Amino acid sequence: MPEYAFIGRSNVGKSSLINMLCNNNKLAHTSSTPGKTKIMNHFLINDNWYLVDLPGYGYAKTSKVVRGEFEQIITDYITKRSNLVCLFVLVDYRLPLQQIDAEFMEWLGKKNVPFCIVFTKADKLSKSELKKNLENYLLKVSYIFEDEPNYIITSAEKKTGKEELLEFIEAHFDLFKRDRDEK
Ligand code: GTP
Ligand code: MG
Repeated sequence: MPEYAFIGRSNVGKSSLINMLCNNNKLAHTSSTPGKTKIMNHFLINDNWYLVDLPGYGYAKTSKVVRGEFEQIITDYITKRSNLVCLFVLVDYRLPLQQIDAEFMEWLGKKNVPFCIVFTKADKLSKSELKKNLENYLLKVSYIFEDEPNYIITSAEKKTGKEELLEFIEAHFDLFKRDRDEK
């Protein structure tokens, strides 16, 4: 079955966004303390696709060994999982491009992993800040992309971007099915 995974720095709002998409605030555990999600969680939706909640990166409190082993599991998942249709890379809308996110997106590009940038916590910004931050961000990441990247603006708090996310998922679901049927 097709899978869509959520990744990004710790505390960016991955678990909250999954809950928003599923209308269930108790599904994925969320916390204001970074490092809440420590394992990979698969949520089966309508018996025919999965949302996958991944632990955050850039969170140093785990021991180096565990981090190393776990990084390998995530790396393998991202690069080898044939039913991973698309990765949603979450970034905090309030912040400029972070080096760790830039490096991660560059790596995804090199590995040909399809991904979509998801801006989170849009409710925390004014309209003018939203516009300014978006323009700056797209300019800063442009060196990674040949065309404008796919992106979706969201707020789990205000349920912003839910339709866009679901439409994106549906459109890619059809592509996945077509590719699979052709094989
Ligand atoms: P880890 O599992 O630790 O990697 O974090 P995560 O990326 O899953 O983040 P999580 O969903 O647990 O959210 C982190 C914090 O941000 C929580 O306190 C959430 O309530 C808050 N948060 C998440 N999304 C939003 C949002 O859209 N708006 C606001 N204002 N707060 C949010
Ligand atoms: Mg989480």
